[in-house]
Parts: sequence; C-alpha cells; structure tokens
Amino acid sequence: MLITTLVTVFCAVRAAHALGQESTVTFNGGKGSIKLGGRGYHGAILLDNDDWPGVIRAAGDLAADFGRVTGTNLTRHLLKGTVAEGTNSKKVIIAGTIGQSRLISTLAEDGKIDLNSTEGKWEAFQSDVVKNPIEGVSEALVISGSDKRGTIYGLYDISEQIGVSPWHWFADVPAAQHKEVFALNKQKIQDSPSIKYRGIFLNDEQPGLTNWIDANYPKAKYGPGYNADFYSHVFELLLRLRANYLWPAEWNNAFHLDDPRNSPTADEYGIVMGTSHTEPMMRWTKEQSLFLEGAWNWDTNRENITQFFKEGAERSKQYDSLYTLGMRGLGDTASPSITPQSLGEIVAAQQQILSDVFNVTDVSSIPQMWCLYKEVGGYFHDGLRVPDDVTLLWADDNWGNVQRLPLGNETDREAGAGVYYHFDYVGDPRDYKWINTISLQKTWEQMHLTYERGAKQIWIVNMGDLKGLELPLNHYFDLAYDFPRMSSPDSTLDWLKLWAAREFGVSANAVADIMNRYGMYAARRKYELLSPQTFSLINYNEADKVLKEWEQLVKDAQKVYNSLSPAARPAFFELVLHPCTAGYIVTNIHITAGKNNLYAAQRRTSANTLANKALELFKEDHQLTQRYHQLLDGKWKYIMDQTHLGYSYWQQPMRNTLPPLAYTQLLEDSLAGSMGVSVEGSNASVPGDDQWHSLSSNTLTLPPLDPYGPSSRWIEVYSRGTEDIQFTVKPHDPWVKASPSSGRISASGKNTDIRVQLSIDWNNAPVGSSISSIDVSVVSGDYGNFGMPTIQLPVNKTSAPGSFHGFVESDATVSIEAEHTSRNTSDGNVSYEVIPGYGRTLSGVTLLPSLADTQQPPSSPRLEYDMYIFSNTSVVDATVYLGPSLNTDPSRPLKYAIAFNDAEPEIVQFVPSTPLGTLPTTWGATVSNAVWTNTTSHEIVGGGNKNTLKLWAVEPGVVFQKVVVDLGGVRDSYLGPPESKIV
Ligand SMILES: *[C@@H]1O[C@H](CO)[C@@H](O)[C@H](O)[C@H]1NC(C)=O
Ligand SMILES: *[C@@H]1O[C@H](CO)[C@@H](O)[C@H](O)[C@H]1NC(C)=O
Repeated sequence: MLITTLVTVFCAVRAAHALGQESTVTFNGGKGSIKLGGRGYHGAILLDNDDWPGVIRAAGDLAADFGRVTGTNLTRHLLKGTVAEGTNSKKVIIAGTIGQSRLISTLAEDGKIDLNSTEGKWEAFQSDVVKNPIEGVSEALVISGSDKRGTIYGLYDISEQIGVSPWHWFADVPAAQHKEVFALNKQKIQDSPSIKYRGIFLNDEQPGLTNWIDANYPKAKYGPGYNADFYSHVFELLLRLRANYLWPAEWNNAFHLDDPRNSPTADEYGIVMGTSHTEPMMRWTKEQSLFLEGAWNWDTNRENITQFFKEGAERSKQYDSLYTLGMRGLGDTASPSITPQSLGEIVAAQQQILSDVFNVTDVSSIPQMWCLYKEVGGYFHDGLRVPDDVTLLWADDNWGNVQRLPLGNETDREAGAGVYYHFDYVGDPRDYKWINTISLQKTWEQMHLTYERGAKQIWIVNMGDLKGLELPLNHYFDLAYDFPRMSSPDSTLDWLKLWAAREFGVSANAVADIMNRYGMYAARRKYELLSPQTFSLINYNEADKVLKEWEQLVKDAQKVYNSLSPAARPAFFELVLHPCTAGYIVTNIHITAGKNNLYAAQRRTSANTLANKALELFKEDHQLTQRYHQLLDGKWKYIMDQTHLGYSYWQQPMRNTLPPLAYTQLLEDSLAGSMGVSVEGSNASVPGDDQWHSLSSNTLTLPPLDPYGPSSRWIEVYSRGTEDIQFTVKPHDPWVKASPSSGRISASGKNTDIRVQLSIDWNNAPVGSSISSIDVSVVSGDYGNFGMPTIQLPVNKTSAPGSFHGFVESDATVSIEAEHTSRNTSDGNVSYEVIPGYGRTLSGVTLLPSLADTQQPPSSPRLEYDMYIFSNTSVVDATVYLGPSLNTDPSRPLKYAIAFNDAEPEIVQFVPSTPLGTLPTTWGATVSNAVWTNTTSHEIVGGGNKNTLKLWAVEPGVVFQKVVVDLGGVRDSYLGPPESKIV
C-alpha cells in the first residue's frame, strides 16, 4: 500500500484514494485522463431516470462532493433515453445499475464496456473509461454496478478518492481541496464484498445519543426523535463506509412506527434493515409491550404472538429486510420458559409466516438469521438446529472475543454463518460505553479468524451510540469489505496511515502512530474498570510509566492539532485529541487518587497536594466534555454525556464521582519527626513505620540492583511535619552513589518531596552479592520517638559470559516479550507471525494459517528464548500472557505447550471448556485484564547457566504476548515486569 502526502505551506493536498482501495482518480491530469470536474468547470453525471432512487440520490451526493472539493458542483442529469440531453459537458461520469440502466446496457451491447466480471454479482462494480460512449459525449468515466448498492459504492468510491470522507458529517472531516479532478485512463473491477451483510447495531444510546437526539429532533411517535432526518445521516454514513445493514436503536424506539418515513427512507437509500438479536420478525422490543395482546410467552400465547410476528413481516415485506428469527425473553433477557423444542417450533412457525406473507414455498431467498447470543447458544448446545436457509449468527462474549465459529460441515450451510461483535456493551463485568477502548489489532485477529473459518454472511457490530467509535468502526467495515487487502497480521498500522491521510492529509504517519498507541493504552483495561489500584504505584515505576506514555501521547496529538488548519481541527479533536486527552485525564485521576491514598497512609504532607490535583483533573474531565459539546456551535452538545468515573459494579454511575481521597493533618507534626522516607517496592514509611509494616523498625529494604536491570533505585524523602528540614543521604559504601545526596524539604509548597536515585559504580563494586546500607539523616536530628532511618540496598554484581546471547536474569526475574525470540521455527505449512501492536505491551505472536491442524509438540514449530540464570535454584515458575480469546471450536480448545531445555513439553489448556452459552468462571477477570495468564513450574539449571524456554501454540488462535520467569523476584503489577535486558 503506497500512500503519498504532499504538504504545502497553505493547504494540505491529499492523495486520491479510497481507504486501501485501487485509485481511479488523479488531480494532475496526465496522458489519457479525463477531466471530470474543477473550479468553474461544468462537469456532469448522467444517469438513467429509471435507475434505483438510491443510486440517483447517491449520484446527487457525488455531484455535491465535487463542489466540496473543487468549489463547483457537478450537475446530475436523469436521462429517459441514451442521448445526453441537457448538458454541455462533453466529458462526464455515467453511472448506472446493470439491468436497470439503459445507458449501461447500451454501452455493453455496443461493445464499449464488458460487464462479464461484474454482472450478476452481489454489490460489485466496475469503472471504465470510454470514448464516444453515447451521442453528445466525447469521453466518460462509466461506473457500472451489479446491483443497487454496487452502483452506490462505485459512486461513493469516487467521492472518497476526491477527498470527501465518509465521516464528513458524523465527524466533521473537511473535504480536501483540489483545483481539478481527472479520471485515470484505466479500468477498475471491484468484486463483491468479502462479507455479505455488514452492519451496526445502534444501541445503549442513552444518555449520549438520546440526549443529543432530544436536542436536535422533535420527539418521534413512540420515543425520542430517531426519525428519518437523523437516520438519513446514518444510512449515508453506512453506504459511504461500504456497509449495508442496520439494527436501529431499540430501547425506547420502534423504528418503523416512530416515523413513517424511516422504513421507506432506509429502503430508498439501500440499507437492509434488521432488528437486534433479541427482536424477532422485524418488530421492536417496545412493540412487544405496546401491541402484543397477552403475555410474551409462546407456551401460553402462541396465537397472538404468531399474529404479532405476521404483522412484522407484512409491513416489512416491501423493504429490503433481514429477518431475525427465534425468541428470547422480554427486553434482551433470557426467556424463563423457552426450551430447545419450543424454540424449534417458533422458528418453524416464523418460516411458515414468511412463506405465507411472501407467498413462496421456498423461503431461502428471504434473508433470515438466528443469533446464538448468550443463553441461545445453550439451545444450540442442547441440540437445537435451525434450517439451512437461516444464517447462524454466532456472538462474541460482548468483549470482542468470538465464542464459536463454523465447524466441519457447518461451512456448507446454504445461509452460512456470521458474527455479532461488540465495540460497546452494557453488562458484566462492567459497561463500556463512553469512548473508544478497542484494540484494532485484536479486532483484526478475531475477524481474521472469523473470515478464515468461513463466517462470511453477516458481520454486525454493537456500536453503542456511534460517536467516539468512529475509528474502530471504519476499520471493521474495511476488513468486512475487502478482507484480502488487509489479511496480513501487520496490516493495522498501514491501514491507520491510510485512514489518517484520508482524514487529515498532513502528518499521516504521526497521527497513525498516535492512534496506534492510543488503541494499546485504552485497551489495556477499559476506563470503566480502572481504579486507583490498577497500576502499581511502587513496583517497576509502573503507574508513572503508564502516565508518562499518556502524557507523551497527548503532547504528540496536541502538536499535530496545532499544525492543522482551523477547518481540520474539529475533526481532529473528535477523532484524535479528545480520546487521547480524555484517556489521559481519567488514567491520571485514578493514579493520582492512588498516590494520594498511599501518601496519606505514609502521612506525607504532599497527600493533600495530590488530593487537590485529583480535584483539578476532575474539573478538566468536565471541561473536556464541555469543549466537545461547544464544538461547531454546539453541534454535538450532550453527545458525551456518558458518565465514566465512579463505577462500583457493572452498571454506570448516575453521576461522575471521584475515587475516595484522603487528607493529612498539616497543622500538626508527625510523632516520628518532620521527615519521612519511603522506598521503591514498598508501601512502608520510616521512621515510625505505618499500618503496612507490622514490625516497627527504622530500616527499609530496596529491590536489588544488578548490571542487567534498572540503572538505579529510588528512595523518597519527604515532609511529615510543620518545619522545613535539611536532609542528607549517606551510603556506607563509596561505590554507591546518591543523587541528590542532600537537600532541603519544605513543609509546604512545591518542595515537600524529593526523589533520590541510588546507583552503583559497577567497576568498583565487589563481585557477587552484598547488601549496602544508606543512612538518611536530618540536621535537626529530630526523629520523634524513633532513630535515624537506614536503607538496605541489595547489590548483585553478576556477569553473563560474552558468548551468551539472549535474556539475562535481573532482580530474580526474566521477562520476555513474545516476539523477541532467539529462534522461531516453521515447517513450511505453519509458522509464527507477529501482530505488531497487539495486546498490552508490545505485540502478539500467533500461529498461521488459521486453518492449520492441531500441532504436535515437540516436533511442531516452536518459539525459543535463551536466558542466562544466575539464581541458585532448580525450579522456576513461568507465567504466559495470552490474548483473551475463547475456544471457537469446542473440540479443539486453545492450548499451548511449554518446556525448558530438553524436558517433555507440558501442554496447558488455558481457556477452560464450557458449554456454549456459558463462559469460564475466570472469564470476567480475563476480559477485565485483557489477557489470559497461566503459570507452570519447571526444572532449570540455575547458578550461572544458559537455559532455553520453548513455547508451542497447539492450536491456531493462541496469541502469545509475554512470558515471565519467576526466580523469586516478581512483584505485583498490572502489566507484569518490564522486559529483561537482551545481550
Ligand atoms: C452544490 O450542491 C449542494 C448540495 O446539493 C447545494 O447545497 C449547493 O447549493 C450547490 N452549489 C451550487 C453552487 O449550486
Ligand atoms: C462476455 O460473456 C459473453 C456471454 O457469455 C460472451 O459472449 C463474451 O465473449 C464475453 N466477453 C468477454 C470479453 O469475455
């Protein structure tokens, strides 16, 4: 994928491309190209008057898009014959649907275009450059669609190439500016999409979208104003994103009835309407209570329910619809009474209704699906099967992990299979419906599996209230439209660059890098699950590092923002700057509150400063929301109303609330004098101890230093009293350096805490292990009721032989990023591939192809990691961090194998087998942490020896992220110890 961005001083010139798709347009003319439009140029689009209204409408969009880009619209002409009447343009766009457009059929009959590659296909199109196509035209770019949406996609393909983003309205992406637009002299054949039905579920729309709707549209008949004026924007967005399918807002609305224009407008645009997994036969949840006579209970009320279903089919018969079959309880719940047997009857009754209403004996031409969501999967597990002409819509676990994919002969089913996926969810372990928390790489990995395993009929994603999820949605639809173009495991960053180039023109690499990092940071743990305890405040500098990463991200985003023209800033704010800043603030709130609690327990004066900082950040969170709401004269007011701070169980808090903060009494001295000392790796505080340190003492011990770990360890000296203090840090050994070695701490203001780094002069340190003491004293000698504190620093002067290459033990730990192998074997059919950016820290390593057989360790391909172990031990624990995926094939659960050196591999099934419709008991923790972890024990050769850890993926779908070998030194943290040094 080649992308070019040219930056000029005054404006950004964007390259012509539809995201990842073949170009047919240029802005520079050139041999054989045809000028289609330009400032003051009278370009035109010719269509057959009898083509689909949706095609004619989309052509109007393209005509206006030329105006957005060049300043001059094209004119749209609807012809009744094949003579170009009413236009002076000699060079035009001709667009039409095969079988619906006389223009296209005449061109084909005259041998001017060959439609063999396109005709009869689903949603395909081609474009050709034709000389003297029809009377009155000298040259034309001819777009021929195989069907209504094929032509529409062909038209919007030009829109996108000339610089109108699908998000021009929904994310305010300004059009690129070009003087002229030309068609390249070439043919383009665009085949059918990879996935047949590609859609979104607009869901969990309260509070954000619904509050925004209330402010912008009059109330609809049965609920908030989700009317055709609103949905037109959604339909247009879907078509520009090359999607075709929608489950509309369900909770307080009834699409078909709320606005009588809703269904006809969807049909005119070319959107296939459906109802959610829990709303059978094109009737909305709300209707179940409004219009059904009697109870929503098949056992006791089947006659009325049958009639209710029938009305749904009758009123949707004239529109493109995809029927949800089956039945659940009222309002997205499991039914207490339905059994596999009664559900079988229900589906049969529903198909009979379709047969009656459509007056056909064979209902296979009517798109139908049965969604195996939550308990419904249990009916399948218990043996219920539905007819072959009903698509099996498998579901993820609501957290982006697909639960089941087609097996064996299920891929031969006539109506195939699909997957219902989530970018937003309300439920256990916690709602996530504020802003984007999606890892694009994880989406790629799961959708790659889905595609390869043949679930290609329907991909539908729960999109929450739409705003905030623009990026993952665009990515998802591009995967669904043309998967082969994105089939490589490293496709994501390339895709992001193309996306950034399309939306902003400039700084595409920088923007792609920003959003690549954002996706990793936000997906480590969803915002709603963050707490002051998430990231370790004392070990591995974890919280500080995480915060620094966010801080840098915001800086980088702000820098791009500052460089953009005012016209591009709202879009950049919505798509990049807002999520980065919002994520930073919320993460900072939790970490600051965590530090506040820790510092208050250490009786630090600075606890109060942190409490105030948390309050300040809380205000910033509000101000950022306000900034979104004030954008573009309030266009998006209320859209970010979603609360996101103060979760205590799965459901959203009714109001944003700060984590508990603690305050220290600053007006009184500590009983242990004015100075406190704490060290890395410990909560304790000396002199005088505190609640964490059961044995009162004046000594704290640091984590060890060795030549292969961090270059220093820190201690903190701080005020715990009302007087300023002068302190000294004095190591007993000359080869231990303290920086700074003395200082002044004030009882208030900025200098209440000073961090002192302790490092080693390795040339002069003694070989082997020793413990060095460091005194921390105050000039006043006032330690209250205690003595002067001492710090113990264990020092291990270790040395791996120069011939060794690999990881070196430090701090009794070896931590490995899975992609950093010493050796990586393959067998010609199967190999390990890196998914850059996957997971929480660096990348994932997975076995491809996805259809590979079960592997046979030890002979099958493996990953090897050499490590040098100093610890005098013969047994270690190895913890493997894996992607949070589930067993999509119950007969082949996800497993890995692990061994040290030449030991027999130990096979580990890390995802417990559970019946379909249920999840493992450890699932909640796994999706919260965004990782499976599993620990095994192994024999090794310690005491200064090389060891080799070997890993095998036993099944495709296993994604390794990280391995941590614990020689007794691993400390608590969220992300695990940082990677060990590789020599
Ligand atoms: C271009 O088309 C748009 C959308 O139809 C319309 O609002 C605008 O007035 C047109 N511009 C001109 C100059 O006709
Ligand atoms: C297209 O198909 C028709 C009918 O099958 C055939 O006669 C014609 O030769 C084909 N054209 C090309 C260029 O393959």
